[in-house]
Amino acid sequence: MRLKEAERISIDEYSEWGEDWEKYWVPIYKAFATIVIDLAQIKTGYRVLDVGTGTGLAAFIAASRVGESGSVVGIDMAEGMLNIAMEKRKRLGIGNLSFRVMDACNLGSLSESFEVVISNFGIPIYRTGAFSEIHKVMEKGGRLSFNIWSSETNEAGETFRRVFEKYKVSHPSPALKNCREATSLLDKISEKYESHPPQMVSLLEDAGFCNIDVKRKIHEVIIPSPRQYVEMFLSGGIDKVEFLEMQPEVRDKFLEEVVAELEGLVSSEGLVVDWKILYFTGARVAGKTKEVI
Ligand SMILES: C[S@@+](CC[C@H](N)C(=O)[O-])C[C@H]1O[C@@H](n2cnc3c(N)ncnc32)[C@H](O)[C@@H]1O
Repeated sequence: MRLKEAERISIDEYSEWGEDWEKYWVPIYKAFATIVIDLAQIKTGYRVLDVGTGTGLAAFIAASRVGESGSVVGIDMAEGMLNIAMEKRKRLGIGNLSFRVMDACNLGSLSESFEVVISNFGIPIYRTGAFSEIHKVMEKGGRLSFNIWSSETNEAGETFRRVFEKYKVSHPSPALKNCREATSLLDKISEKYESHPPQMVSLLEDAGFCNIDVKRKIHEVIIPSPRQYVEMFLSGGIDKVEFLEMQPEVRDKFLEEVVAELEGLVSSEGLVVDWKILYFTGARVAGKTKEVI
């Protein structure tokens, strides 16, 4: 499978996720997006670009930081995600925020440039073009701040994956087969950066960024119950496709077993999940910047 096709499949999965992404993942991701934004050092009046904005989580926070004199543009390729973002923007009546369907690796149609570019897990690191495109639309002296997952696992995640693996269908439909191929291809490329942050630093330097800094943070997230943790994963993407392809009685058995195993990890507060995340910042420094053609 070609990378382009794999990415299209992944984008379509996100597009269908929309409402459930907002319901299950956004409340958890808010803490991570806030760190990305704090590291971006956004000031009143700034123009900010949020790459892979999804339902707009980081873009909404940024819009409140730049104030009325600033502006925020959120871009994404998944229309279903952006539709949720646009409805929310309209409902809240936020005037300094806009959303556009756009590929992070082709930002040529953006007429403005930005003091800050942010992204909360939204930069397609499996494609080489995103960082040089981002560099092009940044003001000299501008700042980039984004995060990616670290490849380090945690006990709750390992438990979920181990039990899920046992129940997945062994004869997938052509659609599921494609999703599996796409996920495996994109994960394989992403893993290179998620397990070796210096490789990401090189990628950023090659795109022309300077003053690059990496921070690894462990987030102890409390999920109220194992059931809710499992539902989060099954709310969209390939995990949902895998789950729906199982026979109903197999789904029930899987849920029973995985919830029972996760119960063993529950503390008095709930299910504790240690998520390890890598936060990167970089700058487009006036004079020092290597122009990328
Ligand atoms: C993990 S989600 C994060 C969404 C959002 N930033 C959040 O924190 O909720 C990744 C997002 O990146 C988007 N994305 C992936 N590849 C993209 C590309 N080439 N151009 C623009 N957006 C992309 C996906 O559609 C998806 O909405």
